[in-house]
Amino acid sequence: MQEGLFNHFWKTVQDYVPYEKSNVPWWAGCSMVVTGGLVVYAAKSVFQLYWTRKRLRPLHGSQNLPGPSPWPIVGNCIPLSSNLYQTLYQYVEQPISLYFIASTPFVVVTDEAAVRKVLGSGMYQKPKYFGYRSSTIRYSVEMNQKLILTNEQMRQQQADSSRKALKVMIDSKVSDIIDGMIEAAEAVVHAVDGREQVENIRRKVIELNLNVLFGYKNDKDVGSLSHIIFEAGKEFILRTVNPFRIGWRWMANFRFFQYVFSLITIGRRVCQHMDSQPATWVHGWVGKVGKIGKLGKVVGLIMASSQTVPTTCLWLLFLLSKYPQVVEKIREETSRVLHSTKKQSMEEFTVDDLNELAYVDCVVKECLRLYPPFPLLQREPEMDDILENVKIPARTPVYIVPWLLHHHPKYWKQPEDFIPDRFMYNASHGDAPSDFVYIPFGRGSRMCAGYHLALLELKILTIYVCQYYDWKCSFPQGKEPVSKKYPIETITHSSCNRFFFIMQLLSIGNVS
Ligand code: HEM
Repeated sequence: MQEGLFNHFWKTVQDYVPYEKSNVPWWAGCSMVVTGGLVVYAAKSVFQLYWTRKRLRPLHGSQNLPGPSPWPIVGNCIPLSSNLYQTLYQYVEQPISLYFIASTPFVVVTDEAAVRKVLGSGMYQKPKYFGYRSSTIRYSVEMNQKLILTNEQMRQQQADSSRKALKVMIDSKVSDIIDGMIEAAEAVVHAVDGREQVENIRRKVIELNLNVLFGYKNDKDVGSLSHIIFEAGKEFILRTVNPFRIGWRWMANFRFFQYVFSLITIGRRVCQHMDSQPATWVHGWVGKVGKIGKLGKVVGLIMASSQTVPTTCLWLLFLLSKYPQVVEKIREETSRVLHSTKKQSMEEFTVDDLNELAYVDCVVKECLRLYPPFPLLQREPEMDDILENVKIPARTPVYIVPWLLHHHPKYWKQPEDFIPDRFMYNASHGDAPSDFVYIPFGRGSRMCAGYHLALLELKILTIYVCQYYDWKCSFPQGKEPVSKKYPIETITHSSCNRFFFIMQLLSIGNVS
């Protein structure tokens, strides 16, 4: 039946071919059509690569922008998907470099002035997903003041007011946050292996954040979210660096859609819960948006807080295990603050007491410098722009990679070393020359809305484990996660396995 159909199709094709009918069988004809299609696609891809590289040259130069040579059809997918950071790091000293996902270009900027312009000027926007561009979380109370502001002031206003609202919430819920992070630390300590440690900390942090952000409690949803956030997040990043995966990973595609669907379902339940509650700070934060807008913001908040904090917790545990002198200093500082505030234990700390822990703050910030959990900040110019003497056409993807800036030899002294004291005299960007090269939380109007909460959670975990535990991390020889060698554990496929592998071997010792 199938053969008959193809024969019929082939005869029809032959009827349209303006030369004598031949006896070429249908399958040979189909192969010719497919091969022809591939040749045309490859030719188009070569032309696109050539044309884009020519178009994205420095204004008065004839050299291509630096970057690995792309291959026809796949661009740089292969080196990028297995070795993203290492590939990008080769060009870290170049202010701007060019890469291709298939034949779609993206540029990476590592120059401070260019980063400042992209993140801080308002000329660059987040890209759209499924035709929708997320808008910033805002605090509608201040928005409703109907101030006459310029665009830039308006953006600044939105960002600042959302942070103020979060701070008010944190002050009122600090004891819940302390309890939640202590539970998270205990869940790591009592896990039987690395995989369970990773899973447990994510679950506990999700549980805590759902509670403090939305007042929402549901064990089943916490469990599903933990799984979804990790699996769907990994799949999303892998697709970003290699869109061809969609073609061959059928089951993964199916699962991906299932995850997205479940995420939306949970998001809807959280929205319904919010609607049934009296107005809280988070209602103001999300703002007066329609149902879909609210769902987008709620899901965005859940995603933004669920993977970043747990990953950093694990890196903190790893780093502290390597630096006993840092643990000692944390213990001393905690004892000093306990003494000066006349508190029996850290469980009684207020936000002000926690703010006294300046050294712990430095430790957390240095950990976020070495291992920033947010892999890429994506932007695109609204109209043609010039960056570092290169004309960037409107809508060209421009990526800023926190890890690259944090390891940039031009901006940091001993960039590979763990030196918390570098943040002692400048809490905002350490010993680097500018705010725009220390960007674990981004910068500008779209900077992380939850960074106060994140820093607080990380600080609590740090002081708790240092106060109550001594622990070791063991790795097989040669598998130590040296920051420049293994920076990407959390984002590529093979590296995800490696991350589990490493964390499987991470063993927390006994109580001191
Ligand atoms: C260590 C923990 C965290 C890190 C490293 C982190 C990092 C980031 C970064 C880099 C961005 C900016 C993305 C961009 O510019 O494209 C961002 C945005 C955001 N983060 Fe976080 N984040 C963390 C924790 C949290 C938490 C706990 C919350 C929840 C309260 C949160 C809520 C948000 C929101 C809502 C945005 C979007 C802001 C906007 O677009 O206006 N984040 N985060």
